[in-house]
Amino acid sequence: HVFKLEDYRASDYLIPATSLDFRLSPDATHLTALLTIERREGVAASAPLVLDGDGLTLLGVAIDGQALSASDYEATPDRLTILKPPATRRFELRLETEIAPSRNEALMGLYRSNNVYCTQCEAEGFRRITYFLDRPDILSVYTVRIEAPHNEAPLLLSNGNPVERGALANGRHYAIWHDPFPKPSYLFALVAGALGKVAGSFTTMSGREVELGIYVEPGKERLAGYAMDALKRSMKWDEDAFGREYDLDVFNIVAVSDFNMGAMENKGLNVFNDKYVLADEETATDADFANIEAIIAHEYFHNWTGNRITCRDWFQLCLKEGLTVYRDHEFSADQRSRAVKRIAEVRTLRAHQFPEDQGPLAHPVRPRRYREINNFYTATVYEKGSEVVRMIRTILGPETFRAGMDLYFERHDGEAATIEDFLKVFEDVSGRDLAQFALWYHQAGTPNLTVSSAHNAAAKEFTLEIEQSVPPTPSESRKRLMHIPLAFGLVGADGKPVAWDSVEGATVDDGVIHIRKRRHTVRFSGISERPSVSLNRGFSAPITLSVQQKPDDQFFLAAHDSDAFSRWQAFNTLLTDALIAAFRQILGGKQPAFAGRLAELAGRIAGDETLEPAYRALALALPGEADIARDIGKGIDPDAIFAAREALARAIAEANRAAFSALYDSLVDKGPFSPDAASAGRRALRNILLDYLALLPGGAGLAARHFAAATNMTDRAAALAVLTHRHPGTAEAEEALAAFEARYRGDALVLDKWFQIQAGVPGARTVDKVRELMRHPAFSIANPNRVRSLIGTFSSANQTGFHRPDGEGYRLFAETVLQVEKRNPQVAARLATALRSWRSLEPGRQAKARQALLEMAKAENLSADLRDIVERTLA
Ligand code: ARG
Ligand code: ZN
Repeated sequence: HVFKLEDYRASDYLIPATSLDFRLSPDATHLTALLTIERREGVAASAPLVLDGDGLTLLGVAIDGQALSASDYEATPDRLTILKPPATRRFELRLETEIAPSRNEALMGLYRSNNVYCTQCEAEGFRRITYFLDRPDILSVYTVRIEAPHNEAPLLLSNGNPVERGALANGRHYAIWHDPFPKPSYLFALVAGALGKVAGSFTTMSGREVELGIYVEPGKERLAGYAMDALKRSMKWDEDAFGREYDLDVFNIVAVSDFNMGAMENKGLNVFNDKYVLADEETATDADFANIEAIIAHEYFHNWTGNRITCRDWFQLCLKEGLTVYRDHEFSADQRSRAVKRIAEVRTLRAHQFPEDQGPLAHPVRPRRYREINNFYTATVYEKGSEVVRMIRTILGPETFRAGMDLYFERHDGEAATIEDFLKVFEDVSGRDLAQFALWYHQAGTPNLTVSSAHNAAAKEFTLEIEQSVPPTPSESRKRLMHIPLAFGLVGADGKPVAWDSVEGATVDDGVIHIRKRRHTVRFSGISERPSVSLNRGFSAPITLSVQQKPDDQFFLAAHDSDAFSRWQAFNTLLTDALIAAFRQILGGKQPAFAGRLAELAGRIAGDETLEPAYRALALALPGEADIARDIGKGIDPDAIFAAREALARAIAEANRAAFSALYDSLVDKGPFSPDAASAGRRALRNILLDYLALLPGGAGLAARHFAAATNMTDRAAALAVLTHRHPGTAEAEEALAAFEARYRGDALVLDKWFQIQAGVPGARTVDKVRELMRHPAFSIANPNRVRSLIGTFSSANQTGFHRPDGEGYRLFAETVLQVEKRNPQVAARLATALRSWRSLEPGRQAKARQALLEMAKAENLSADLRDIVERTLA
């Protein structure tokens, strides 16, 4: 079945109040649901009431206290139809269902993780708990009673505020929760089990006390301190930056070890993948700390953007996700370094969203069609969705943007809204027409701008010729012209901004050229010397640029651009161009050669004390193999890309040996560990220097000493990756792997790093290693984190291993995806997207990749999730 945006219709019935009574048991949980049903104004009394279900067993159904007879309703596991609802507009529907959480391996609905009951209802998991109008525009006030044996589940949590709790006979107990805020069913949550608690409190801007709780596996409480701190900072930031205050008496977070995604924003009861809660220096890297901070913030910010204002239907997913990602990006930028954060965001967008937008799975930020909504929790909806919000701010300016957000909260609080509603508030506060801009939501594909420049010294005129194009994407062959806010700067020979007298050919304001037509000839007058042009500063628009620019200009900008992002970009472009040239040389049977001044500039950036260490580390990180492949576009031979990248790394290392070595020594961590951004930046710089130095004679020994001397996970994991990736199979690498395994045996979350690093080892042998590791006692095909660490890393982050020319990597992949799919279709479908760029491979690999996709397509009883991905990828 294909769901279509234009088919949206309000439901005939509403459910203003929902009361749930759970009697928990692993194999037979009994639920009584009391739904207050209200027929919508104007709907005929004869309209049947059709509720969604998914694999349910109905034990009883009654209306206003009267049991229904068999002819009054139709029940299947996936649907309950009340054929003739009462004539009264309001009635009470009582449903009794039974479910088996212990047998729920899809991890949607009510399931067990590590003996803890927990739920995941977004997008359509609530229908696996009871029959319901399981759609986001049905807002209901929930009262939840949970009953369980005290020894099995001393803790009983749900959404909202605690109302009552008490002991019952036979060692049982109960708790009642009430959530006063009407919410859609996807925000329902229940958690019950034996968990340890970290308590905190927060006083809101109007002086209300909120009790905070983070619940983790008993014994792991001290690993939740950083998450608690991040939560308090998030609550404060949302008050300061957006005027948003928390609204319940309690805010709880639970960490579980089996979770399909990162985390979930259930009202007042966020449920997290424990990977994004638990951290200390011994077990978590600096990247883990940053992710925890960002995801805690993200889920908390959903309280307003997602929960108080939710989505009318799932086509509007970006209304809450893109906006909330934008908010968490801004939070992290304020907490850390804005420039470094921006570069990292753009790297992520290019690594995940660009290939999606440029391949068979491309879709608009607001899709118009889907077969399985779970497959639309994508980089496009999330990351590009965030960039679209950022562009609104760029176009309107910070004050008007904030006024628009204020109006959005005021106008739509308590509603299930649409993208049109969102755009309208910005039109209303600014008086502008955003119709052309709205194409960013409606049209898929990454727009490209071709730019060339000319300087006429006699006329003192500088001209930019800019042309936009949007490549065709599946089912959208003709594209309309977009409004692209292109931030830019003209940079003089002294590195200072160049001023102009007047400009014509496009609207230019506040350093932004507004591209709205296919072609713009933008003329700047009063410019006597030819400037360098810095384009798409701060990555003001999520586009690709084809700039006819001399390498001299690129080198100049890489050293002098005042915009930190563009300066990074200029250097990164130089690296990319060099790598692509080297790739072609290698394919042509030649030894790659690199301009000496590139390595020299790398050395200068590394040692530039005016730049933050974290920034220098990002600049020195060569474009990834997949990034290079994406920029080359077709005929990809991953082995040649790998060779090109290694040759450039070696050239940079050799040219800077002494300087890198001295800098490496000077950056050694002094004093106690701190996860703050500045300390993390120093570690990042030192670890990237290690990666270069490891390529030189004595490199394995240096990395082994780094590993042995490490006092935190960041350094330990970095050294292990350097050893195994730069010196695979050596005694140093093998010893470090064994030591790591011995040290963290029994800590599955940390062993994930061990799986991940090994799955990432470049080369033909890794397929066999992955097969072997799948039999490791710590591995479990049922646990999403294990699967993602081993199979996910292998297929999406190991270009030479996965794309082994004989197709063995694809075979292991297809086999494993199908194995995962039997339990967990959602995780399998996500894994399967690793083949989305198969058409850009060289013909030999392409044929083998296609074979693997066909293999999956013809498997029996394919889930809707996996079928959707495989068929679209092949189409
Ligand atoms: N709303 C969650 C978040 O981004 C993600 C939930 C994903 N659920 C799913 N079924 N794909 O914070
Ligand atoms: Zn989200």
